[in-house]
Amino acid sequence: MKIQINTEANGRINLLGEHLDYNGGSVLPLQINRSIKVLLEDNNNTNEIIINSRQYKEQIIITSDFRKQDGWPDFIIGSCSIIATKYNIKISKIIFNIDSNLPIGIGLSSSAAITVSTLRALIKKYKINVTDSELVELALQVERDFVKVGGGLMDQFASIYGKLNSILFLNTLNKKYELIPLLPDYEFVIIDSGESRILSNSNFNQKKNLCEVVAKKLNVNYLCEIKELNKEIKKQLTNDELKIAKHVILENLRVEKGKLYLLHTDYDSFGRLMTESHLSLKNNYEVSTMNLDKLVELANTFGALGSKLTGAGFGGAIVTLIKKDLVHDLKKYIIKHYSNAKFL
Ligand code: GLA
Repeated sequence: MKIQINTEANGRINLLGEHLDYNGGSVLPLQINRSIKVLLEDNNNTNEIIINSRQYKEQIIITSDFRKQDGWPDFIIGSCSIIATKYNIKISKIIFNIDSNLPIGIGLSSSAAITVSTLRALIKKYKINVTDSELVELALQVERDFVKVGGGLMDQFASIYGKLNSILFLNTLNKKYELIPLLPDYEFVIIDSGESRILSNSNFNQKKNLCEVVAKKLNVNYLCEIKELNKEIKKQLTNDELKIAKHVILENLRVEKGKLYLLHTDYDSFGRLMTESHLSLKNNYEVSTMNLDKLVELANTFGALGSKLTGAGFGGAIVTLIKKDLVHDLKKYIIKHYSNAKFL
């Protein structure tokens, strides 16, 4: 009988706590109703592993040594490679059919979604016992060790443990998390700038390396262990180091405050923190772009409670918090001033 396995994994937006998941900090992602689906079938014709992508309309054949291709199939190839090695399984004669309504390269965590969905398919196919927390680690390993973009675990964790109508508060150090329900009268609107980016081509890894250098200099394992940017610390750092440390340390405090605002349904204050976060990503972490800044400014001028880039930055989308009854007019206003904007 022909086996067919269907799996799916959702993307996310991140509301606060950008670039903290590899700095030992806390984050506030929210799953979105956009996903990547995998339909895994037996390949009855050849021994090969084949990937069919509905959106790219292409077929890719994976070599048996799981060689990296430097493109989106690496998340699937890496998943096969890691499962084959870790569980000593010979993977062959299968077809991955990929279908997605989650845009790629705009900061909505398509990388984690395709990886989690592929891993789920392989786990079912080869009947491997994997807990959710092991799945997070496997997906992270694919990104770090195979694709070689060194993010933290926020995206994988949000895709596996997140919920559509609850914000996930996650302490990335001890992996404790809470789900905070969303108020029905508000919406987090995603606005795509139309400027896409590939993280492996950006200076994401350099930013991460600099964080590690600064943490070492300050004698801590992770920058988020530092709770205050005092004179002592400022004295020890170069200008660039100070800027990056400033973002990380203050952003972590914003997440702690933001969580309380969400619990008290104080969305005005939460929105203000989102904009503060964006300004810090722009001026201190230096991962924003003119287009993202423009969208943030437009949304806030229109009357959003706050806005920020979402995900790593370097292009992609912003997320803006606004009352539901204003969403329609917000969209009209944005399109009038930024005709390339797309709404999800
Ligand atoms: C990317 C990474 C995440 C996280 C964000 C920035 O999405 O994959 O781990 O570091 O950037 O917050």
